[in-house]
Amino acid sequence: MKELKLVAKISICTYEELSIQEKKLIDAAKNATKNAYAPYSGFHVGAAVLLENDVIVTGNNQENAAFPAGICAERAAIFYANTNYATSVPLMLAIAASKNGKFTEHFVSPCGLCRQVLIETEKRYKQHLKILMYGEKEIYIASSVEDLLPLGFIF
Ligand code: THU
Repeated sequence: MKELKLVAKISICTYEELSIQEKKLIDAAKNATKNAYAPYSGFHVGAAVLLENDVIVTGNNQENAAFPAGICAERAAIFYANTNYATSVPLMLAIAASKNGKFTEHFVSPCGLCRQVLIETEKRYKQHLKILMYGEKEIYIASSVEDLLPLGFIF
């Protein structure tokens, strides 16, 4: 029997170590948490996507009393991008989250459903999507969604 070892590469850094462009995207994600609608979890998530045409689009989580009807910040942002800038390749996505008015100390990472949508985005645009996961203490960076979802469903 053969064995396949899957290796995920994640870089860890501080806000100060980011490029100007990365800082701008993190700031946009943090700002996007302000309009999250999260009366049930109290967890306010913001996402920002940098497109090839230099436009930054944002999204946030929108909850609903009928729980599955809500949507995560990452999918809100990427679907907005796909709707309004379908021909511009998404290059980078930043996520941040706050609870009780404070940003999380540790990095926040996309849920499984969002990873599935993000890996399809990479496939659709034939381009790696860099993911910046913000935490006050440290920022985790994946240079491709493949590092977050190995062997994702694609056909
Ligand atoms: N949430 C996101 O917006 N993104 C994620 O990747 C994880 C979870 C939202 C969904 C829900 O509104 C709240 O965070 C708590 O799970």
